[in-house]
Amino acid sequence: MKVFEKIVDTTNFAVSQKQNNKSIGFVPTMGALHEGHLKLMRQAKKENDNLVVSIFVNPIQFNNPSDLEKYPRDFNQDKALLEEVGCDVLFAPEVNEMYPKDATKSYDFGDLEKVMEGAFRAGHFNGVAVVVEKLFDIVKPDRAYFGEKDFQQLAIIQKMVELEKLDVKISPCPTIREIDGLAMSSRNERLTKGERKIAPFIRQTLTEAKKKSSTLTPDEIRLFVENRFADQVEFELEYFEIADDKTLQPVSNWSESQGIVGFIAAYLDKVRLIDNIRFI
Ligand code: PAJ
Repeated sequence: MKVFEKIVDTTNFAVSQKQNNKSIGFVPTMGALHEGHLKLMRQAKKENDNLVVSIFVNPIQFNNPSDLEKYPRDFNQDKALLEEVGCDVLFAPEVNEMYPKDATKSYDFGDLEKVMEGAFRAGHFNGVAVVVEKLFDIVKPDRAYFGEKDFQQLAIIQKMVELEKLDVKISPCPTIREIDGLAMSSRNERLTKGERKIAPFIRQTLTEAKKKSSTLTPDEIRLFVENRFADQVEFELEYFEIADDKTLQPVSNWSESQGIVGFIAAYLDKVRLIDNIRFI
């Protein structure tokens, strides 16, 4: 595996592959890799001549400085895992390399960014879009892979590709979970033993909510979830929403849309966890 810190080396690699008609599959990450990331990479490896992965903890997408500071980092372990999945190029730039000047670009994602993660994390998606567009320009992927765990992020990236008319195919991948149902996340590393034990409550609540959707309206399910969380003092529910899977706008009845997903964000002490479940 080649490891590049510089943009120019990564782009030279990409250009040489293009000249030889070799395709590039790209998985952007912030490191602290787990099976969810690796699954995306195996898919990318299978569908392309080259697998390129980036590890960059992108400061401009963190709306909370302590979340950035505490974000888990383990570069040596990440490199070993990348060797195992057969990664061809790891791009791991420093902050100065990506942002020699402050990023000023601002996107208009319309209503997509006004709900859920967009509403609770000001500037987050703009920061994600800036870095992903920059990374696409550097890596020049034919296909890029994103997890449905971050469902709204995936929608934002698809919108960014459309707005900027980028020539890259976005491939969604299903959420990978621990055996007890907890969605894999780098942030899970920050949970204490006790918190880790109760964290599957988030997924269990989504599963219960889905079961009830045959008899309850979306509003009744919202209430059900809020009440369940009110009884759990360790958790602080930030939002639970039931929304259209394309526009991400809330729905008030099941016949309103062909695709409906339940979305949740909750804090376990200082650690913020998100998850989602498809209803329809
Ligand atoms: P990160 O959280 O490291 O995630 C990198 C990719 O892995 C994202 O597409 C994310 O959706 C996916 N992923 C994470 N956990 C997953 C799981 N349990 N199952 C399936 N896929 C999972 O998302 C980011 O980084 C950043 O915002 C980034 C896109 C790299 C821009 O900085």
